[in-house]
Amino acid sequence: MKPRIGVLTSGGDCPGLNAVLRGVVLAAEKLGWDVVGFPALVIADAKKILGELQVRALIIVGGDGSLVTAQQLQEAGINCIGVPKTIDNDLEATATTFGFDSAVDVVVDALDRLHTTATSHRRVMVVEVMGRHAGWIALHGGIAGGADIILIPEIPFDYDKIAGVIKAREAAGCLGTVVVVSEGARPKHGEQVKRDVEAGEFRLGGIGDAVAREIAKRTGKETRCCVLGHLQRGGAPTTLDRILATRFGVKAVQLANEGHFGSMVSYQNYKVRHVPIAEAVNRLKLVPPNGELVQTARDVDISFGD
Ligand code: F6P
Repeated sequence: MKPRIGVLTSGGDCPGLNAVLRGVVLAAEKLGWDVVGFPALVIADAKKILGELQVRALIIVGGDGSLVTAQQLQEAGINCIGVPKTIDNDLEATATTFGFDSAVDVVVDALDRLHTTATSHRRVMVVEVMGRHAGWIALHGGIAGGADIILIPEIPFDYDKIAGVIKAREAAGCLGTVVVVSEGARPKHGEQVKRDVEAGEFRLGGIGDAVAREIAKRTGKETRCCVLGHLQRGGAPTTLDRILATRFGVKAVQLANEGHFGSMVSYQNYKVRHVPIAEAVNRLKLVPPNGELVQTARDVDISFGD
């Protein structure tokens, strides 16, 4: 029988997942291995099932929670390789994750379209984007799409400052304003906007409407909100994501072949490398508020409402 590896994509959708699977399957085939796909695995049964199927290693493609499970499986004696998956790009252990570029592309396309209505109707358009803990999607999307104001979780904002920026723009003849806000952003003395709070679990969403209401109240300008939501997580991946995801899939098979179990693929300095899963989980990569990217945005006259 040919050697076997397993692959499991856990959690939700993310542009580039199919490219990871392609990388895994084709690279494994080249080594003469079979690949078994798992829709899900219960930790308690995993060892028995994988043993019966003679699966020598399991590649787990997932977000932070799934990587914690991968580490637990590894500690339970199952050979695991992790592949990080999140559009938020908020894992410290990798410079970038696949799906992020595709999500940013959706934001940029939306901003290109929304500038038109902001200008022609002299409105403020508030665009709510994903980004639970980190503002990478808002920051990259906002810079590339020419936002006037970007609000991110790492830089709590002040409604009066935002109103001041919009009034100053109006006085200078810029009658439309585009604001990008991460779902996880919050005002200086306020909370994140949460929905469906139940037993400690919650969804984010609604900050866009709250920001639009406050802007309208403080400036008297017509202000509309557009929530991009799951549009950012579906559809065809960008070229960059297809290539990164393929490289991640191929690297995961190489790591399995070399016996680097308990490790996660990671992109660093233009190379796909690996790091221990144990060091990668639960470590968030946040936007540095005084970093080069935020400064670049400020230098092109983007306000963070602070
Ligand atoms: O972590 C990725 C992410 O897209 C977050 O930006 C967002 O808060 C969350 O998933 C939304 O998840 P769901 O699809 O379960 O609402």
